[in-house]
Amino acid sequence: MKVFRDLAWFFKQEKKAYLSGIFMLFLVAILQLLPPRVIGIVADEIGARTLTLGKLGLWIAVLIVAGLLMYVFRYYWRIYIFGASVKLARILRTRLYEHFTKMSSHFYQRKRIGDLMAHATNDIQAIQQTAGSGVLTLVDSLLTGGFVIIAMATTISWKLTLIALLPMPIIALLTNWYGTKLHARFKKAQEAFSFLNDKTQESISGIKVIKTFGQEKEDINDFKKLSDEVVEKNIAVAKVDSLYDPTISACVGISFFLSIGFGAKFVLDGSITLGDLIAFNTYLGLLIWPMLAFGWFFNIVERGSASYDRVSRLLNEKIDIKDHEHAIIESPKGNIEVNIAKFCYPDNEKTVLKNIKFTLGQGKTLGIVGKTGAGKTSLLKLLLREFEGYEGEIRIGGKEIKEYRLNALRKAFGYVPQEHFLFSASIKENIAFAKPDASEEEIHLAAKIAAVHDDILGFAEGYDTVVGERGVSLSGGQKQRISIARAILLNPEILILDDSLSAVDAKTEETILASLKENRQGKTTIITAHRLSAIQHADLIIVLDEGKIAQQGVHKTLMKEDGWYKDMYLHQQLEALVEHGG
Ligand code: CTP
Ligand code: MG
Repeated sequence: MKVFRDLAWFFKQEKKAYLSGIFMLFLVAILQLLPPRVIGIVADEIGARTLTLGKLGLWIAVLIVAGLLMYVFRYYWRIYIFGASVKLARILRTRLYEHFTKMSSHFYQRKRIGDLMAHATNDIQAIQQTAGSGVLTLVDSLLTGGFVIIAMATTISWKLTLIALLPMPIIALLTNWYGTKLHARFKKAQEAFSFLNDKTQESISGIKVIKTFGQEKEDINDFKKLSDEVVEKNIAVAKVDSLYDPTISACVGISFFLSIGFGAKFVLDGSITLGDLIAFNTYLGLLIWPMLAFGWFFNIVERGSASYDRVSRLLNEKIDIKDHEHAIIESPKGNIEVNIAKFCYPDNEKTVLKNIKFTLGQGKTLGIVGKTGAGKTSLLKLLLREFEGYEGEIRIGGKEIKEYRLNALRKAFGYVPQEHFLFSASIKENIAFAKPDASEEEIHLAAKIAAVHDDILGFAEGYDTVVGERGVSLSGGQKQRISIARAILLNPEILILDDSLSAVDAKTEETILASLKENRQGKTTIITAHRLSAIQHADLIIVLDEGKIAQQGVHKTLMKEDGWYKDMYLHQQLEALVEHGG
């Protein structure tokens, strides 16, 4: 029942709908009492041979009117109660989604996507059911059950009612016991579903890898294992759940047995009529539904409460990177001063960056190079404030980046991540992603700077070509350049290209760099690369080695120093020569 308390805010908010729905349920519960009573009266009239065609017609008319009214009321309580519960799903889904967008990289590093999806689908649905079917079964079983029992006791015989209800306490005890069992089992079932969801998501995303490595069989086996787990856990739920209905039926059977036995005696000694007994048994039949509904109620509520716990736990996860109280609203502009004493990723002791100190003037170009795993991407992530657990400070325009509103800070950047991502949308929409109101000309210009305009025109539908999930139909280089165009379109104060020229040939790289230079005068650009030609004209080059700055300067001075830069540059030049048949 805790889940109802947890959802109290929602019931309050939708008070009108719920009260209206409950009122309709109340009317239905009362109207339901009519037919058994009418049947009893008609039976007695038949017994006494006093039934006339006129009377029968009247009773039938009463039944028809009651039936029609119930039809209307049943329709409306569904609209009110189920309609409101759908709103709960919307509210929770939106909350969860907003929460997801606020969480940092660290959160996504820890969480499995399939699990998050299970929260957003399965769990929300279970909570919605609690607010819909849960409320319905509770209210309806109490109202119908209560009224039927009152009608039995007051209009027929309270003695017979008490006797017929003797099995009730057994039901109450068992229901309680089932509820506790169900809760624990539901939790396990939902968890198993999360795992399965996660596996499915990952396998489908990675299906190409699975196929090229011929791992289909193994993958199917893994999937089957998780799928079996879900079945097993749900069977465990069903095993407890299934106990409920037969128990109810057995108890109701005992009630019928008691009511016929003792009822017959009461008819014989004249304390009730035969019609009363028939009506009584029809009432008893009406009790089956509320008792079953009560069982469903437990099922629904236990499932909903397990899901509510899971969703709340997720919603309560702290947002680790957020705005300070008086954060600066303007986007940063100016020199970038980096002074990082030490940085480790959360939950990882390894020092990734150490003693990184440099200043980049506004409008200048910075090149960051170094072996793979040297810390290039990590440094960029700190600039973007994706992580903040570092010792030291990073300033832009003289102010620490933590002092800016996150939104404002990120607006200053156009970021092409090393692992670029295209949405399942048209190329145009992908490029205009962060600036949906961009004109055709702007989009084309960005694509031209990224040297992908001609490629796009080559597609049958040009800029309207829809790229499949993750842009399957494009080449790696095309996807990369579309990602670059997306960042360039923003004309950002600071453009970050993280290894973004890796999938283009040397000539295209040169074209892109030249048009960047032409179009980004006065704006800052940061480029990381493995091919040194991409950064050799930079105003500052930093060579990282195991998270430390091994060398820094401009191309000319670095070529005079003995070290990684010179070695690598000569090596790459030699390679290029060989490639061109020299
Ligand atoms: N790392 C980590 N946790 C992450 C990301 C990276 O512990 N979430 C570690 C990596 O294992 C690596 C180091 O941080 O040892 C630096 O990684 P990164 O900055 O990504 O290296 P890059 O220089 O960008 O390497 P590459 O050239 O391969 O992109
Ligand atoms: Mg990297």
